[in-house]
Amino acid sequence: MNSIAPNALNPLKQLEEWDDFLEGRYREGKSEDEFRQYDATATPGVAEFYRLNHENQTVDYVLGKEAEYFALTRGSKSIWEAAEYLNTLVDDSDPDTDLTQIEHLLQTSEAMRRDGQPRWMILVGFVHDLGKCLCLYGEPQWGVVGDTFPVGCAWSDKIVFPEYFKKNADASNPLYQSEYGIYEPHCGLENVHMSFGHDGYIAEVMKPYLCDEALYMLRFHSFYPWHSHGAYKHLENDKDRAMLEWVKKFNPYDLYSKGHTKPDLKQLKPYYDDLFAEFLPDKLSW
Ligand SMILES: [Fe+2]
Ligand SMILES: [Fe+2]
Repeated sequence: MNSIAPNALNPLKQLEEWDDFLEGRYREGKSEDEFRQYDATATPGVAEFYRLNHENQTVDYVLGKEAEYFALTRGSKSIWEAAEYLNTLVDDSDPDTDLTQIEHLLQTSEAMRRDGQPRWMILVGFVHDLGKCLCLYGEPQWGVVGDTFPVGCAWSDKIVFPEYFKKNADASNPLYQSEYGIYEPHCGLENVHMSFGHDGYIAEVMKPYLCDEALYMLRFHSFYPWHSHGAYKHLENDKDRAMLEWVKKFNPYDLYSKGHTKPDLKQLKPYYDDLFAEFLPDKLSW
């Protein structure tokens, strides 16, 4: 068991505290101001988490982590093995009432299945958070979850808690603070270095096997400034604009599919065995 108790580097009680915060932030009918108040006072652990995220996600940090993880040298695992591995992440949750990581993934994919979404999308629903195993590799919470954003160009004020960027080392680099930064206008989001986390990592793992729509859902599912606030249009290309609707289609399942009924893994397993076999090899590189 890999138990991560909250500490100065990992201020969230559990990784899901960030997901719960997102759900509250995007609950219909809440004004931007209400979010802000909720942000700062009700969830000090979340605010501290964002402070660490925004201060530490620099260009140098991101390039270093991409070099470390995107070559996929962490061994080979099947999807079930990866899911079981993620399940060993037991943070400060209540084992009697809280759902396991696998149960969370199944709730997302099963909600898609009930809605008759395409099979590749149901697969995306199941795998989309498997990159959270980065925590088990020793990465801090702020380097695994959190809304993502491009590095190497000016930060959008649509990113939650933008004030925390003041102490990011890239704040004093004029190139990184210009609108386009190290990028060309409309270079395409796939050519942008995103703040490092579980999204980019799982997209790299799945890249050889899934369609662009699926890979966009994986790579950009936490890129709220773009898919929910319309920021970074100046970096978008035609492909990004075409893919955005799919990323938006994915988002409600990620935000709102969590319930408290435990999915019956034993009963569901044959369906998922077939689904994985349809798109993926037995073992994938991680
Ligand atoms: Fe996620
Ligand atoms: Fe998720």
